Amino acid sequence: MERMSDARGLVVGNWKMNLDFVEAVHLTQQIGVVLRHQPVAHTDVVVAPPFVDLRSVSSVLEADRVPVAMAAQHVNAHDAGAHTGEISVGQLARLGVTQVIVGHSERRTLYAMSDDVVRATLFAVVRAGLRAILCVGEDLDVRSAGGQNEFVAGQLRDALEPLTPAQRALVTIAYEPLWAIGTGRSATSDEVRAISTHVRLVAADLEMPGALVLYGGSVSPENAGELISQGVNGFLVGGASLKAESFLAIIRAVDDCYAELR
Ligand code: PGA
Repeated sequence: MERMSDARGLVVGNWKMNLDFVEAVHLTQQIGVVLRHQPVAHTDVVVAPPFVDLRSVSSVLEADRVPVAMAAQHVNAHDAGAHTGEISVGQLARLGVTQVIVGHSERRTLYAMSDDVVRATLFAVVRAGLRAILCVGEDLDVRSAGGQNEFVAGQLRDALEPLTPAQRALVTIAYEPLWAIGTGRSATSDEVRAISTHVRLVAADLEMPGALVLYGGSVSPENAGELISQGVNGFLVGGASLKAESFLAIIRAVDDCYAELR
Protein backbone atom coordinates (compact mmCIF):
# COMPACT_ATOMS: atom_id res chain seq x y z
CA MET A 1 0.00 0.00 0.00
CA GLU A 2 1.18 3.50 -0.76
CA ARG A 3 1.40 5.81 2.17
CA MET A 4 2.79 9.29 1.89
CA SER A 5 5.18 10.22 4.65
CA ASP A 6 2.69 12.80 5.91
CA ALA A 7 -0.11 10.23 6.04
CA ARG A 8 -2.03 10.01 9.30
CA GLY A 9 -3.82 7.17 10.98
CA LEU A 10 -7.47 7.36 12.01
CA VAL A 11 -9.23 5.63 14.90
CA VAL A 12 -12.99 6.02 15.33
CA GLY A 13 -14.76 4.79 18.46
CA ASN A 14 -18.36 3.76 17.82
CA TRP A 15 -20.07 3.68 21.21
CA LYS A 16 -23.31 2.34 19.72
CA MET A 17 -26.24 2.38 22.20
CA ASN A 18 -23.96 2.41 25.25
CA LEU A 19 -23.15 5.00 27.94
CA ASP A 20 -25.59 7.56 29.30
CA PHE A 21 -24.45 11.16 29.30
CA VAL A 22 -22.75 10.92 32.69
CA GLU A 23 -20.79 7.84 31.63
CA ALA A 24 -20.00 9.47 28.30
CA VAL A 25 -18.57 12.54 30.04
CA HIS A 26 -16.46 10.32 32.27
CA LEU A 27 -15.02 8.33 29.37
CA THR A 28 -14.32 11.50 27.36
CA GLN A 29 -12.49 13.01 30.32
CA GLN A 30 -10.40 9.85 30.77
CA ILE A 31 -9.43 9.80 27.09
CA GLY A 32 -8.79 13.55 27.18
CA VAL A 33 -6.41 13.46 30.14
CA VAL A 34 -4.21 10.88 28.46
CA LEU A 35 -4.25 12.42 24.99
CA ARG A 36 -3.41 15.87 26.35
CA HIS A 37 -0.46 14.60 28.38
CA GLN A 38 0.79 12.01 25.91
CA PRO A 39 -0.42 13.31 22.55
CA VAL A 40 -0.43 11.09 19.50
CA ALA A 41 1.37 12.88 16.71
CA HIS A 42 0.29 10.94 13.63
CA THR A 43 -3.23 9.74 14.32
CA ASP A 44 -6.62 11.43 14.27
CA VAL A 45 -9.12 10.28 16.89
CA VAL A 46 -12.90 10.44 16.59
CA VAL A 47 -15.63 9.29 18.97
CA ALA A 48 -19.21 8.55 17.94
CA PRO A 49 -21.45 8.80 21.04
CA PRO A 50 -25.21 8.23 21.06
CA PHE A 51 -27.22 11.31 20.00
CA VAL A 52 -28.26 12.11 23.58
CA ASP A 53 -24.61 12.31 24.70
CA LEU A 54 -23.34 14.60 21.93
CA ARG A 55 -23.91 17.89 23.71
CA SER A 56 -22.17 16.74 26.90
CA VAL A 57 -19.26 15.15 25.06
CA SER A 58 -18.75 18.26 22.94
CA SER A 59 -18.66 20.41 26.11
CA VAL A 60 -15.88 18.26 27.58
CA LEU A 61 -13.90 18.19 24.32
CA GLU A 62 -14.09 21.96 24.10
CA ALA A 63 -13.54 22.83 27.76
CA ASP A 64 -10.64 20.40 28.21
CA ARG A 65 -9.21 21.07 24.74
CA VAL A 66 -9.21 17.37 23.91
CA PRO A 67 -7.81 16.64 20.43
CA VAL A 68 -10.70 14.38 19.46
CA ALA A 69 -13.39 14.99 16.84
CA MET A 70 -17.02 14.02 17.27
CA ALA A 71 -19.06 11.85 14.94
CA ALA A 72 -22.70 10.80 14.96
CA GLN A 73 -23.67 7.17 14.46
CA HIS A 74 -26.48 7.85 12.02
CA VAL A 75 -28.57 10.70 10.60
CA ASN A 76 -31.75 11.22 8.65
CA ALA A 77 -31.31 12.23 5.00
CA HIS A 78 -33.97 14.96 5.15
CA ASP A 79 -33.24 18.55 6.15
CA ALA A 80 -36.20 19.02 8.51
CA GLY A 81 -39.89 18.31 8.89
CA ALA A 82 -42.28 15.57 9.91
CA HIS A 83 -39.86 12.75 10.73
CA THR A 84 -40.70 11.83 14.31
CA GLY A 85 -37.74 10.48 16.21
CA GLU A 86 -35.16 11.45 13.59
CA ILE A 87 -32.21 13.88 13.62
CA SER A 88 -30.95 16.06 10.76
CA VAL A 89 -27.44 16.84 9.53
CA GLY A 90 -27.95 20.52 10.38
CA GLN A 91 -28.84 19.66 13.97
CA LEU A 92 -25.68 17.56 14.27
CA ALA A 93 -23.43 20.20 12.72
CA ARG A 94 -24.75 22.77 15.19
CA LEU A 95 -23.55 20.52 18.03
CA GLY A 96 -20.02 20.33 16.66
CA VAL A 97 -20.36 16.99 14.89
CA THR A 98 -17.94 16.90 11.95
CA GLN A 99 -18.42 13.32 10.77
CA VAL A 100 -21.29 10.87 10.44
CA ILE A 101 -21.18 7.08 10.24
CA VAL A 102 -23.38 6.09 7.29
CA GLY A 103 -24.79 2.64 6.59
CA HIS A 104 -23.42 0.77 9.58
CA SER A 105 -24.39 -2.88 9.18
CA GLU A 106 -26.54 -2.70 12.32
CA ARG A 107 -28.59 0.05 10.66
CA ARG A 108 -28.77 -1.94 7.44
CA THR A 109 -29.75 -5.27 9.01
CA LEU A 110 -31.62 -4.40 12.23
CA TYR A 111 -33.33 -1.21 11.00
CA ALA A 112 -33.85 -2.06 7.35
CA MET A 113 -31.64 0.72 6.01
CA SER A 114 -31.79 0.06 2.28
CA ASP A 115 -29.11 0.91 -0.29
CA ASP A 116 -31.35 3.78 -1.43
CA VAL A 117 -31.44 5.23 2.07
CA VAL A 118 -27.68 4.76 2.49
CA ARG A 119 -27.15 6.66 -0.77
CA ALA A 120 -29.48 9.49 0.21
CA THR A 121 -27.95 9.73 3.69
CA LEU A 122 -24.41 9.82 2.37
CA PHE A 123 -25.41 12.56 -0.03
CA ALA A 124 -27.05 14.61 2.74
CA VAL A 125 -23.92 14.39 4.88
CA VAL A 126 -21.37 15.40 2.24
CA ARG A 127 -23.65 18.03 0.72
CA ALA A 128 -23.54 19.76 4.11
CA GLY A 129 -19.74 19.59 4.01
CA LEU A 130 -19.43 17.05 6.81
CA ARG A 131 -17.22 13.99 6.52
CA ALA A 132 -18.89 10.59 6.19
CA ILE A 133 -17.66 7.19 7.30
CA LEU A 134 -19.33 4.85 4.83
CA CYS A 135 -19.61 1.30 6.17
CA VAL A 136 -19.54 -1.65 3.79
CA GLY A 137 -19.07 -5.36 4.38
CA GLU A 138 -20.43 -8.79 3.60
CA ASP A 139 -22.17 -11.36 5.77
CA LEU A 140 -20.92 -14.87 6.40
CA ASP A 141 -22.89 -16.43 3.54
CA VAL A 142 -21.34 -14.07 1.01
CA ARG A 143 -17.86 -14.61 2.49
CA SER A 144 -18.28 -18.41 2.51
CA ALA A 145 -19.21 -18.29 -1.17
CA GLY A 146 -16.17 -16.10 -1.92
CA GLY A 147 -18.35 -13.20 -3.07
CA GLN A 148 -16.98 -10.50 -0.77
CA ASN A 149 -15.10 -8.48 -3.40
CA GLU A 150 -18.07 -8.20 -5.69
CA PHE A 151 -20.44 -7.46 -2.82
CA VAL A 152 -18.30 -4.70 -1.34
CA ALA A 153 -17.62 -3.15 -4.75
CA GLY A 154 -21.38 -3.08 -5.36
CA GLN A 155 -22.05 -1.32 -2.06
CA LEU A 156 -19.30 1.22 -2.72
CA ARG A 157 -20.37 2.01 -6.28
CA ASP A 158 -23.99 2.27 -5.33
CA ALA A 159 -23.35 4.83 -2.60
CA LEU A 160 -20.50 6.79 -4.15
CA GLU A 161 -21.25 7.03 -7.86
CA PRO A 162 -23.85 9.81 -7.52
CA LEU A 163 -21.37 12.06 -5.68
CA THR A 164 -19.08 14.64 -7.26
CA PRO A 165 -15.31 14.11 -6.84
CA ALA A 166 -15.26 16.90 -4.22
CA GLN A 167 -18.03 15.17 -2.27
CA ARG A 168 -16.29 11.78 -2.55
CA ALA A 169 -13.19 13.35 -1.02
CA LEU A 170 -15.21 13.76 2.19
CA VAL A 171 -15.83 10.02 2.48
CA THR A 172 -13.83 7.56 4.59
CA ILE A 173 -14.54 3.92 3.75
CA ALA A 174 -14.94 1.48 6.64
CA TYR A 175 -14.81 -2.19 5.70
CA GLU A 176 -16.65 -4.10 8.41
CA PRO A 177 -17.53 -7.72 7.67
CA LEU A 178 -20.71 -8.61 9.54
CA TRP A 179 -19.25 -11.85 10.84
CA ALA A 180 -16.49 -9.96 12.66
CA ILE A 181 -18.60 -7.29 14.37
CA GLY A 182 -19.00 -7.86 18.08
CA THR A 183 -18.09 -11.53 17.70
CA GLY A 184 -14.55 -11.47 19.04
CA ARG A 185 -13.50 -13.00 15.72
CA SER A 186 -11.71 -10.33 13.71
CA ALA A 187 -10.75 -10.80 10.09
CA THR A 188 -7.27 -12.27 9.71
CA SER A 189 -4.32 -10.22 8.53
CA ASP A 190 -4.50 -11.88 5.11
CA GLU A 191 -8.22 -11.14 4.82
CA VAL A 192 -7.73 -7.50 5.80
CA ARG A 193 -4.83 -7.09 3.37
CA ALA A 194 -6.73 -8.65 0.48
CA ILE A 195 -9.93 -6.67 0.97
CA SER A 196 -8.16 -3.36 1.59
CA THR A 197 -6.27 -3.80 -1.68
CA HIS A 198 -9.58 -4.49 -3.40
CA VAL A 199 -11.33 -1.52 -1.76
CA ARG A 200 -8.49 0.76 -2.87
CA LEU A 201 -8.83 -0.47 -6.46
CA VAL A 202 -12.56 0.24 -6.43
CA ALA A 203 -11.91 3.64 -4.82
CA ALA A 204 -9.29 4.48 -7.47
CA ASP A 205 -11.83 3.55 -10.12
CA LEU A 206 -14.24 5.99 -8.48
CA GLU A 207 -11.55 8.69 -8.67
CA MET A 208 -10.87 8.47 -4.93
CA PRO A 209 -7.20 7.46 -5.06
CA GLY A 210 -6.41 8.94 -1.65
CA ALA A 211 -9.44 7.56 0.17
CA LEU A 212 -8.95 6.56 3.80
CA VAL A 213 -9.84 2.92 4.39
CA LEU A 214 -10.65 1.63 7.87
CA TYR A 215 -11.16 -1.90 9.11
CA GLY A 216 -13.76 -2.68 11.76
CA GLY A 217 -14.84 -5.86 13.50
CA SER A 218 -13.49 -7.04 16.87
CA VAL A 219 -10.47 -4.74 16.79
CA SER A 220 -8.68 -4.94 20.15
CA PRO A 221 -5.39 -3.89 21.74
CA GLU A 222 -4.19 -7.43 21.01
CA ASN A 223 -4.74 -7.41 17.24
CA ALA A 224 -4.48 -3.69 16.37
CA GLY A 225 -0.70 -3.66 15.92
CA GLU A 226 -0.80 -6.49 13.42
CA LEU A 227 -3.92 -5.39 11.53
CA ILE A 228 -2.76 -1.79 11.04
CA SER A 229 0.14 -2.97 8.91
CA GLN A 230 -2.21 -4.72 6.46
CA GLY A 231 -2.96 -1.75 4.26
CA VAL A 232 -5.65 0.08 6.22
CA ASN A 233 -5.42 3.63 7.55
CA GLY A 234 -7.00 2.80 10.88
CA PHE A 235 -9.99 1.28 12.60
CA LEU A 236 -13.65 1.66 13.40
CA VAL A 237 -13.81 0.25 16.93
CA GLY A 238 -16.96 -0.83 18.77
CA GLY A 239 -16.64 -2.76 22.03
CA ALA A 240 -13.02 -1.83 22.73
CA SER A 241 -13.83 1.89 22.43
CA LEU A 242 -16.01 1.79 25.57
CA LYS A 243 -13.03 1.62 27.93
CA ALA A 244 -10.37 4.32 27.88
CA GLU A 245 -7.56 1.83 28.39
CA SER A 246 -8.36 -0.41 25.43
CA PHE A 247 -9.31 2.48 23.13
CA LEU A 248 -6.08 4.32 23.93
CA ALA A 249 -4.02 1.16 23.39
CA ILE A 250 -5.50 0.81 19.91
CA ILE A 251 -4.82 4.49 19.16
CA ARG A 252 -1.20 4.00 20.33
CA ALA A 253 -0.75 0.94 18.10
CA VAL A 254 -1.91 2.92 15.06
CA ASP A 255 0.22 5.90 15.98
CA ASP A 256 3.33 3.76 16.47
CA CYS A 257 2.84 2.29 13.00
CA TYR A 258 2.50 5.74 11.41
CA ALA A 259 5.47 7.05 13.37
CA GLU A 260 7.60 4.33 11.80
CA LEU A 261 6.56 5.42 8.32
CA ARG A 262 8.13 8.87 8.77
P1 PGA B 1 -16.78 -4.24 17.37
O1 PGA B 1 -17.74 -3.29 16.51
O2 PGA B 1 -15.44 -3.58 17.44
O3 PGA B 1 -17.46 -4.34 18.72
O4 PGA B 1 -16.71 -5.55 16.66
C1 PGA B 1 -17.27 -2.62 15.38
C2 PGA B 1 -18.36 -1.80 14.74
O5 PGA B 1 -19.51 -2.28 14.67
O6 PGA B 1 -18.14 -0.66 14.30
